[in-house]
Amino acid sequence: MPAELQQGEAAFTANCARCHGERGIGTTQGPPLVHKIYEPNHHGDPAFQRAAANGVRAHHWQFGDMPKIDGVTPDDVDQVIKYIRWLQRQAGIM
Ligand code: HEC
Repeated sequence: MPAELQQGEAAFTANCARCHGERGIGTTQGPPLVHKIYEPNHHGDPAFQRAAANGVRAHHWQFGDMPKIDGVTPDDVDQVIKYIRWLQRQAGIM
């Protein structure tokens, strides 16, 4: 992984991975973000900022709502987005 993604990985692990899984593969609490429906044409970067700031009403899956995530700044989420986009590219999704 490129060194500049370490901050995003750390923020993701601390704030998102308990539901979205290590490396974004999903858990029993939340969907994988390394998934076709979260590639940039379906869920662009603003959707990630909105999700963290406001939470998400369940609409694609059966996991329930995503709460808003306290303790991440928009800068943190920008770093998380870079990390997720990189994982998506590695997986051949984008
Ligand atoms: C408590 C569990 C939980 C945590 C923590 C969590 N999420 Fe989620 N997230 C969910 C669930 C569940 C959904 C799916 C909602 C649905 O059915 O569409 C979701 C959906 C999303 C979506 C899709 C939004 C949309 O418009 O459909 C994004 C993007 C996202 N999460 C990003 C994040 C990021 C970034 C973090 C960390 C800052 C995070 N999530 C932390 C549970 C979580």
